[in-house]
Amino acid sequence: MTEHKSSNGTVPTLSAAAEDRLKQLVSRYPRSKSAIMPALYIAQEELGWINDAAVHWVADRLSLPLAHVIQVATFYTMYYKQPVGKYHIQVCRTLSCMICGAKDLTAHIKQRLKIGAHEVTNDGVWSFEEVECLGSCGTAPMVQINDVFFENLTPESLDALMDRIEKEQPDLRYSTVRQDLGAGLSGEPKSRLYTAPVES
Ligand code: FES
Repeated sequence: MTEHKSSNGTVPTLSAAAEDRLKQLVSRYPRSKSAIMPALYIAQEELGWINDAAVHWVADRLSLPLAHVIQVATFYTMYYKQPVGKYHIQVCRTLSCMICGAKDLTAHIKQRLKIGAHEVTNDGVWSFEEVECLGSCGTAPMVQINDVFFENLTPESLDALMDRIEKEQPDLRYSTVRQDLGAGLSGEPKSRLYTAPVES
């Protein structure tokens, strides 16, 4: 197995829980390289973004060329290539969402958070960026916050959603929502949990 060292000369290690998750994951595939995308998720959840240590860890554990891991990590917008806030908003800016009001959502986020794209709020809670089609065009305009879709938004409903997230601090990472990923397509969006009125 090729040993991958990160720029500080060490072989990256993640927590025992992350290493266990990866071992279980790899055991499900006939070839370990097939686990590259969920492996990147594990690294991202542990490290917050796909940094140098993350790509070296995945390359090392899956015995893959570093360039291959970097290619996958940089192709998909769900892998963050720079530090993000605890809640990272990805606003879809492609045709359906743009026609249905994506620009208003982005303008509202900028006005509320007082940051630009790829910046993080001083308290570390929020960051945002604009991305291309997230595959939920029929529920435009929509955003993805961490790993969860929130659909049919207006600036007002997005504002209420952000209020609620700040108050409830839900865990919107893949490891906790994966059972519900795609649920929006069957008419019961997980996002409904967070857009319903907050009970006092
Ligand atoms: S255009 Fe926004 S999800 Fe496809």
